[in-house]
Amino acid sequence: MSLEDRLKRRISAFGPITIADYMVAALTDPEEGYYRRRDPLGAAGDFVTAPEVSQMFGELIGAWAAISWQQMGRPDPFRLVELGPGRGTLMDDALRATAAVPGFHAAKQLHLVEVGERLIERQREALAASTPTWHAELAAVPDGPAIVIANEFLDTLPIRQLVRGGSTWEERLVGIVGDELAFVFGPTALGSLVPPDLADALPGTTVEVSPARIALVDLLARRLASQGGHALLIDYGTPDSRAGGTLQAIRSHKPWPPLKEPGTADVTSHVDFGEVARAARLAGAKVHGPIGQGLFLERLGIRPRAERLSARDAGVAEALGRLIDLDEMGTLFQAIAIAHPDLPIPAGFET
Ligand SMILES: C[S@@+](CC[C@H](N)C(=O)[O-])C[C@H]1O[C@@H](n2cnc3c(N)ncnc32)[C@H](O)[C@@H]1O
Repeated sequence: MSLEDRLKRRISAFGPITIADYMVAALTDPEEGYYRRRDPLGAAGDFVTAPEVSQMFGELIGAWAAISWQQMGRPDPFRLVELGPGRGTLMDDALRATAAVPGFHAAKQLHLVEVGERLIERQREALAASTPTWHAELAAVPDGPAIVIANEFLDTLPIRQLVRGGSTWEERLVGIVGDELAFVFGPTALGSLVPPDLADALPGTTVEVSPARIALVDLLARRLASQGGHALLIDYGTPDSRAGGTLQAIRSHKPWPPLKEPGTADVTSHVDFGEVARAARLAGAKVHGPIGQGLFLERLGIRPRAERLSARDAGVAEALGRLIDLDEMGTLFQAIAIAHPDLPIPAGFET
């Protein structure tokens, strides 16, 4: 039975499900979840991410990680962790760029958190020389000082949508209308998660909250605050909490109706970096940023790197524009660092 039919059967039997439950099924259902068995990246797939646009992205993140390691006092060993590494391209470029940093490679133990079988194969091809260990979740990465990197990972974590009624909040759920999956409304107990600035929103306003993202950031921040380290999270989203629904799906590089043929499209949302920052601070970590990806990459030196590469690669100027221009990924994507409170400001986040 298809995932769509299984979801319909479940809803018919037990009632509407949350958008979060729908996203978990659409993205990670063991049989048909979008990320389980396919490689969706690249021109022939559904979307292109920054590391696939240019080697410069991973190289600069490698430099960022090496500086972080030095700021941490060069722990040996340390965990170099990537959440949702895709094809392994970012980490491959990062490791190539840091090969000459004395002691960095010898000290690193590479840990990859990944849910997709096909993508694990791709990561194994790209990163075999660094003997990675794979985990299904961050909680399984062994203790110790860590540098954690995640690009376009937070957007895949499930959200819930609350809609302001007259005086209370209702939840937008996934039910069945006619014979099709469709949005319906139901009561919610999550009103207390609405950010304070949005609590008095006008009737009809949608606010997204992500208990899953809060839980992930809480775990990450607690770990860094107690065991040492830095995390760098980059994603599309807003620097603070804003009203509005951002649930979206992409298939073959085009928008796709999020409830249509679950498991065949990437269903995500824009990341509320205000929510991420609040969760990290509450867990005892220090937060730097968020700042736009364009500014972050400029501060790490993307322009001189592009100049050097352009002598042998004519596509570099276009890639540079895609990564940093304000009407491309430059401000739509935000970078945030989460750190042990005693560590110096991570590279790129100086004010
Ligand atoms: C949008 S892709 C980004 C890939 C890569 N970071 C890049 O920038 O090219 C999302 C990645 O997160 C992984 N992923 C999605 N949901 C996950 C989950 N719940 N647990 C672990 N990995 C997950 C996907 O399989 C994929 O590797």
